[in-house]
Amino acid sequence: MKFKTIIEPFRIKTVEPIRQTTEAERAAALQAAHYNVFLLHGEDVLIDLLTDSGTGAMSVYQWAGMMRGDETYAGARSFYAFERAVGDITGFRHVIPTHQGRAAEHILTGAMLKPGDIVPNNRHFDTTRANVEHRGATALDLPIAAGLDPQVLHPFKGNMDLDALERAIRDNPGRVPLVMLTITNNSGGGQPVSLENIRGVSAIARRHGIPFFIDACRFAENAWFIRTREDGHADRAPIDIAREMFSLADGCTMSAKKDGMANIGGFLAMHDDAIAERCRNTLILTEGFPTYGGLAGYDLEAIAVGLYEALDPDYLRYRIRFVEYMAEKMVAAGIPMVRPAGGHALYLDAKRWLPHIPPTEYPGWALSLVLYLAGGIRAAEIGSVMFGQQPDGSEKPADLELVRLAFPRRVYTQSHMDYVCEVLEHVNTIAPRIRGVRIVEQPSALRHFTAKFAPLAPGVIA
Ligand code: F0G
Repeated sequence: MKFKTIIEPFRIKTVEPIRQTTEAERAAALQAAHYNVFLLHGEDVLIDLLTDSGTGAMSVYQWAGMMRGDETYAGARSFYAFERAVGDITGFRHVIPTHQGRAAEHILTGAMLKPGDIVPNNRHFDTTRANVEHRGATALDLPIAAGLDPQVLHPFKGNMDLDALERAIRDNPGRVPLVMLTITNNSGGGQPVSLENIRGVSAIARRHGIPFFIDACRFAENAWFIRTREDGHADRAPIDIAREMFSLADGCTMSAKKDGMANIGGFLAMHDDAIAERCRNTLILTEGFPTYGGLAGYDLEAIAVGLYEALDPDYLRYRIRFVEYMAEKMVAAGIPMVRPAGGHALYLDAKRWLPHIPPTEYPGWALSLVLYLAGGIRAAEIGSVMFGQQPDGSEKPADLELVRLAFPRRVYTQSHMDYVCEVLEHVNTIAPRIRGVRIVEQPSALRHFTAKFAPLAPGVIA
């Protein structure tokens, strides 16, 4: 290309105002939210990087699709459009719509797991882990060694440790009914998985006759990383790479709130008739009839269009560059983060940034509070609050203390990002004064959503 600037490959047709607040207003909002950013009102947030899930902007083609939505209870035209798109991209024979990714996980784990089973994954996302554990099974994370070190530069830090997978299956005969691979690896830093690694996982699972399912939330971003980082794929269309990824698996779970470019939705897809039947039986109980599965006809249309838009090379080039641009500025400012940048997010390394706060005082959580207080930015902790609570109620510090800045798709512009960088640079100057937090009240699982916290005296910032 002749020019080096990678632009937002869209123009803006509808805008949603965002509101500036003062630091005093934000301090009051934090207190009212029990020092949990999940409990803030969205209107009090200036730049919301809590998640890239369901927060994207839809295109004119998606909105047009929504007007075409067919709300017929059974056999709606919109379902067949959805089924065609998912089938075309994934190649799976059975396409089962769900209201979002975790519903697909809930149904799949119910159909495939029993107490005592083990599910290997490169790294389970928190809802996947909770669904596996809900069935009395063990969620086993098998990342490669490079995936555990935020500072190691490796093109595919999301890869699974294939030797460890082989061992886990050998050492637990009859107890591994499902192998999963999360693409990209969200909890491990939004890091991609190489096609070679997917092939390796597939070969091991097939040799042992174990179904292999991809958690496909960010499959398009992963395909772009394969194209740009793995030898031999530079000229391939992202859709072809995606098709090859799926061809190596027996099925997938999907949250269409990510690379489906939709505000809600998901699906389960697979080849096996018997598993599909078990899943559809549960679907009718928990989601709805198999041709809508908890979604409106218009949602199905938005996803059918969005899946293709997520695979558009101009979009993916901009999307991945957007995150990389932020990462370059952070690295230049000396702010510790997981490197290289992930596909949908940047992960600040709170363990290194705030070494004076021990894991028992939740450094990532404290950092998320300061980002809001200082700049109205909302980000999510992925550390000992999210992962430290064990099924038996005990507490075990997480491997990493990260704070994720997740970027909604097609929502914020480069100047929004320049502002975020400026806030982070300011936080860097006050980092030694940031104080930890303690938990005042918590539920028994997925505690980060609702737990109440208190800053350790005298405040979030000393
Ligand atoms: N798997 C992965 C890898 C995810 O990142 C998510 C959601 C899910 C499954 C569950 O999908 O939300 O539609 O039920 N991740 C969001 C996030 C919530 O912020 O990373 P869901």
